[in-house]
Amino acid sequence: MTKRILVTGSYGQIGQVLVPALMDRYGKENIIATGRKKIPSVFKEKDVHYHRLDVRDLTQMQTLLVEHDIDILIHNASVLSATGEKNPQLAHSINFEGFYNALEATRMLNLEQLFAPSSIAAFGPSTPRENTPNDVITRPTTIYGISKVYIELMGEYYHQKYGLDFRSLRYPGVISPEEPGGGTTDWAIWIFWEALRNKKYTCFLKEDTSLPMMYMPDCIKSTIDLIEADNSKLEHRSFNVTAFSLAPKDLVGPIKEAIPEFEIAYEPDFRQQIAESWPASIDDSVARKEWGWKPDYDIPAMTKDMLEKISKMI
Ligand SMILES: NC(=O)c1ccc[n+]([C@@H]2O[C@H](COP(=O)([O-])OP(=O)(O)OC[C@H]3O[C@@H](n4cnc5c(N)ncnc54)[C@H](O)[C@@H]3O)[C@@H](O)[C@H]2O)c1
Repeated sequence: MTKRILVTGSYGQIGQVLVPALMDRYGKENIIATGRKKIPSVFKEKDVHYHRLDVRDLTQMQTLLVEHDIDILIHNASVLSATGEKNPQLAHSINFEGFYNALEATRMLNLEQLFAPSSIAAFGPSTPRENTPNDVITRPTTIYGISKVYIELMGEYYHQKYGLDFRSLRYPGVISPEEPGGGTTDWAIWIFWEALRNKKYTCFLKEDTSLPMMYMPDCIKSTIDLIEADNSKLEHRSFNVTAFSLAPKDLVGPIKEAIPEFEIAYEPDFRQQIAESWPASIDDSVARKEWGWKPDYDIPAMTKDMLEKISKMI
């Protein structure tokens, strides 16, 4: 049966790709995009049904959910890691209040499902850094990471207390040509843009700082697969997902193959400390076992596609 889905924070890096993918899968008329700031040009091109919604406004959120007869709420609105460290108070209000509103709206309106992304930022310096398991200590040291632990724990609490069908993915850094929203893995996007525009890039992380990542098509696939997963097979509500681990130095060779003049410099800033508090690689075997997760893109396939896509956009 067709589902009606509303996405919050959908004008961002992931939402502007997720919304068209959902439209293809569930029918254009069944997807409502909401957000707060600049509407992506792709939404106008694809005639997306969009509305302004600040997730701190519970009444407006409920009104839209009722008016559009929504079954599934995808809650993407968030302040990301690097921006959050610059303004923890703003991150607290958007990430905590916004998610609480999404939870309460789902509960009160008896929606079928709430999906809200978590992140590798939910881990912290006391988490094992290599091949980090799904069920492990999560004591993050950023406001963003703390908000993701809140999302996971509150979602799981509402599941246990009210039977609310909460599902979450700990996305790693998501790579795509779309402008990133102010996270610690944004370098893996800007490196391609700068290589193609200026043949050089100054990276804000050290050359060997490895972090888990995935290419956008895999992010979209993991999201739709988890939303559609058989609830009776899910033993967890929050899942590690990854495709590969990537350090800045790993992309230099592959980019030089396409752009031999490419040069990189390293000027680590405050984001280095954030990156060092996160895992270098994560174990997503629980997602593979419970709902069949498997990524399609490795580093060479992602690099080739990024260079091709951005070349056409410049
Ligand atoms: N992109 C990544 O690498 C990545 C990694 C891990 C987790 N995530 C998570 O995925 C989700 C989407 O991330 P993204 O990369 O698209 O982020 P993004 O910053 O590009 O998009 C988030 C959107 O939320 C909007 N927003 C901020 N405050 C809002 C408010 N009060 N009301 C409504 N909208 C508001 C922003 O304007 C922005 O368009 C977030 O929950 C993020 O934490 C992303």
